[in-house]
Amino acid sequence: MIGQLVSDAVAGYFRGKSILITGSTGYLGKVLLEKILRVQPDVKKLFLLVRAADIKSAKHRVETEVMGRAILRVLKEKLGNGFESFIQEKVCPLAGDIMYENLGLGPAKLRELLKEVDIIVNGAATTNFYERYDVAFEANVMGAKHICEFARRCSKLKMLLHVSTAYVAGEQDGILLEKAILMGETPRGRACLDVESELNLIKETRRELKARCCSEQAEKRTMKELGLKRAREFGWPNTYVFTKAMGEMLLGHLRGDLPVVIVRPSIITSVLKDPLPGWMEGIRTIDSFIVGYAKQALSIFLVDLDLIMDVIPGDMVVNAMMVAMAAHSEEQAQRIYHLTSSLRNPAPYAVLAESGHRYFLHNAPRSAAGKDPAVGLSRMRFFRTFRGFRAYMAIRFRLPLEALRLLNVALCGAFSRRYDELSRRYKYVMHIAELYAPYALFKGRFDDTNTETLRAGMADREQDDSSNGYYFGFDPKCIDWDDYFYRVHIPGVLKYLYD
Ligand SMILES: NC(=O)c1ccc[n+]([C@@H]2O[C@H](COP(=O)([O-])OP(=O)(O)OC[C@H]3O[C@@H](n4cnc5c(N)ncnc54)[C@H](OP(=O)(O)O)[C@@H]3O)[C@@H](O)[C@H]2O)c1
Repeated sequence: MIGQLVSDAVAGYFRGKSILITGSTGYLGKVLLEKILRVQPDVKKLFLLVRAADIKSAKHRVETEVMGRAILRVLKEKLGNGFESFIQEKVCPLAGDIMYENLGLGPAKLRELLKEVDIIVNGAATTNFYERYDVAFEANVMGAKHICEFARRCSKLKMLLHVSTAYVAGEQDGILLEKAILMGETPRGRACLDVESELNLIKETRRELKARCCSEQAEKRTMKELGLKRAREFGWPNTYVFTKAMGEMLLGHLRGDLPVVIVRPSIITSVLKDPLPGWMEGIRTIDSFIVGYAKQALSIFLVDLDLIMDVIPGDMVVNAMMVAMAAHSEEQAQRIYHLTSSLRNPAPYAVLAESGHRYFLHNAPRSAAGKDPAVGLSRMRFFRTFRGFRAYMAIRFRLPLEALRLLNVALCGAFSRRYDELSRRYKYVMHIAELYAPYALFKGRFDDTNTETLRAGMADREQDDSSNGYYFGFDPKCIDWDDYFYRVHIPGVLKYLYD
């Protein structure tokens, strides 16, 4: 650590640097690249590796999926007519894919990057909990390996920052420390996870499926189930966090003396304040409940309101990433940071439930007939165990569904379509509840001692001056969760849902 840092020094660190960013078409990637461009216009180059067939489509993706988003608005307004030329000069889209060696780059581009890149930020990942095992493995495990191998060949690399997740800890209770996951280590303490064998299992399963001439649908289902099965066997709740954990293992194992920072955010929520409060993209974990309730399509939830939900706004994650890069540049060590809130400023699920209900009471749109819909707003119902949830679902939906099935048989299939549709919906809800249950009922808390030390290293951390864009705060203690959900996050999720 380079003594006490000030915000100017953090912004200054990126001056003249060339940074390779993966995952820039994703949520966090956009918050990061916007912030770098805004606080350090003298950054040399941002190389954005995006999945695309060629450079033309890579450029198109960056133009439409990154530069066209609302999060870039503040920078656009700041630069006015100069925005386009600034982006042209600073941003260089690359067609590539981390699942391939050399990140899928051609020889000439590869040579250029190996000489040019100072910093790598690997934010790319498959974030779907129920992804095909092969797809998740290629991006989250092989991707981390390929990034590490690439980084080791870069002639002037100062830092590889890898974005992981706090939930690599798996299904554990108690205080979870910011410690590295050793090769083969599992949450259940069984040291028999072998990454190589997992790769072989995937290849073997693919071969078998091919030999059996399985349909695409059947192959997809088998690979998804395989990921979930392997994850649960070793103590992780889903394929996503299982493969992210293996990615971390490989990185730690292969890095040699490469300076590596691994950040592990918990559930990343909308931007708290910088540059666009409430900015969010897509529907993620807790947001599916917000959107479901907003549409009044969901009123029952599997969650223990007394438990702590660990959330952290996207801009705080990016601030911490930038401070960590500046603090650990060229250190031949691996640092791990939990970017979490459950220990420092715990937010029980009850806060989200209350602020959500209050928000929709106050903000529900009036019906065409002018009737106040708040009158009909259903009260949320919560189940603190999966067993209770399943019992309710069985009585409320499964039994009527069974009656419909019998009636359908008696009436020679008159209700087949209706039955199939309701049955599909029922299975979907149960599947989603099962996937999210480990988070909604998670009892662990993430220790963030390393992150607190990083925060303490910021001499001007108490100053909240976002006017010059030099604000690098990432202390969740400054968040009033009720106010954040009510005033920032919920309206943001709904506003930017289709951004
Ligand atoms: N969101 C959260 O709550 C959360 C919490 C903790 C940790 N994280 C971590 O934070 C990082 C960013 O998350 P996010 O929410 O911003 O994710 P996201 O919106 O789902 O974006 C994922 C990004 O990764 C890219 N990507 C996926 N596979 C790739 C591959 N094989 N090669 C190159 N790029 C690939 C995607 O590109 P395409 O556009 O081509 O799909 C996209 O740009 C991830 O590493 C994630 O594990 C996220």
